[in-house]
Amino acid sequence: MLNNIPVKVESIAPDMTLLRYLRGQQNLTGTKEGCASGDCGACTVLIGSQGPTGWVYRAINSCICPLGSVDNQRVITVEGLNDQGQLHPVQQAMVDCHGSQCGFCTPGFVMSLAALHMNSDVAGSGSMEEQRHAVIDAISGNLCRCTGYRPIIDAGLHAFKKPAQMINIVQEWSADAPLAGNPVLEETDCFYAQPTDEAGLQALLQQYPDAHLIAGGTDLMLEVTQFYKTLPQLIDLNRVSGLQAVEIQRDGVQDNAEAYVEIGAAVTYTRLERALSDISPAFVQFLGRLGSRQIRNRGTLGGNICNASPIADTPPFLLVLDAELLIGNAAGEYRREPISQFYRAYKQTTLATGDYLAKIRIKREALDYPVKLYKISKRYEDDISAVMGAFLFDGQQQLRIAFGGMAAIPRRAHATEKFLHQTTWHRDGQVLPHILDQACDVLRSEFSPMSDVRASAEYRMAMACNLLKKACNEIIAQLNGQVVAEGVFDHA
Ligand code: FES
Ligand code: FES
Repeated sequence: MLNNIPVKVESIAPDMTLLRYLRGQQNLTGTKEGCASGDCGACTVLIGSQGPTGWVYRAINSCICPLGSVDNQRVITVEGLNDQGQLHPVQQAMVDCHGSQCGFCTPGFVMSLAALHMNSDVAGSGSMEEQRHAVIDAISGNLCRCTGYRPIIDAGLHAFKKPAQMINIVQEWSADAPLAGNPVLEETDCFYAQPTDEAGLQALLQQYPDAHLIAGGTDLMLEVTQFYKTLPQLIDLNRVSGLQAVEIQRDGVQDNAEAYVEIGAAVTYTRLERALSDISPAFVQFLGRLGSRQIRNRGTLGGNICNASPIADTPPFLLVLDAELLIGNAAGEYRREPISQFYRAYKQTTLATGDYLAKIRIKREALDYPVKLYKISKRYEDDISAVMGAFLFDGQQQLRIAFGGMAAIPRRAHATEKFLHQTTWHRDGQVLPHILDQACDVLRSEFSPMSDVRASAEYRMAMACNLLKKACNEIIAQLNGQVVAEGVFDHA
């Protein structure tokens, strides 16, 4: 359903992006292409999906969204936002607050702010600071090169004064009566398939073992838009029910089994933010540093793990949690694997052809331990890390340490952990600085980071040592009931 009009799509390349379709085939050129990589927000559109209480609209980057993934969903572009010729409250606020100059970025900002306007719960009741935070979060994935952000933020705040405007549904339409036909085009072995359960996924993997698995596509689709590759066979995981669940066992689990949190691999970061808000606030706060709102609306925890980037944001945290992975395969078999054994070498994992990551399992109690997550990057928002450090003080009073950006794979600092375990590094609520200096010597001996465009090896090493000291200080302060000041999530 495109701007409230049902659209039937046939014979389209599986890796066609939503943006190219909108601009090239629907002539909806209000949606712009800036970077074609999910970094600038010029291509932002709204995707509506059915929630428990009605349709929920989220801002996404159409430039890296495969068209097939919006089958049976609602797409709203900037052309579909106004109501019978009346500007949407956000559009009017952009006019009133002088939020646009050249205008290239403006449709993207409008769509991001419109999503906030529809979904925000701080509009009526939130404090000014909460509203401002919500606006900044909503536009964290939108770049403007000429207006400057102050008037745009003003426009976002100004729009809160108007009632939230929902999308008018001019024609009822049922997802039970899909228009797009069978997405698997078997004649050419070129397809975009959306299995709805793991049995369907496994059958597809048996038949097409070389097909690419895709969930948010926030990394994979760059192969198309940046490297001009084709992805002829795509299996979309977004509707596989078993990969979409978040199960949180609360205290008092039957049979004294250990309580755990189990996260489906295709759960988006935005859903995780809500699901874990009361049991892992440190991780939820950290997710604000991962991509932009548009990226978090599409990107998934499983994608971040399986991508196997040495600078991925979440693996260091999962490593200190001692998370376990449930991996399925085309034959319908499953195995459990500690995440510490999952990464083999640069960009290599234990996943074999026909394997897929189904779930991530975390012990419930591990989320209660004091944890510090630090991301060092050039920009605060929407940037890739140079160094990512995760530090957890476990129930045996041992510090678990993991880094991204310090080796070919994300990994634990076992030698440093062992040194700290065998040495008294804090006394009477104070860390012992000379011991931490020695710990840094051990850290330097077990990592040899590389120099690249994001940071030099020396810088990475210096940051890792500083983060270790910072984490030790903050954890001990926290255990002694001291308030740990701002700056928990530093940037370079
Ligand atoms: Fe820049 Fe899509 S064109 S995020
Ligand atoms: Fe020109 Fe934002 S108004 S880039």
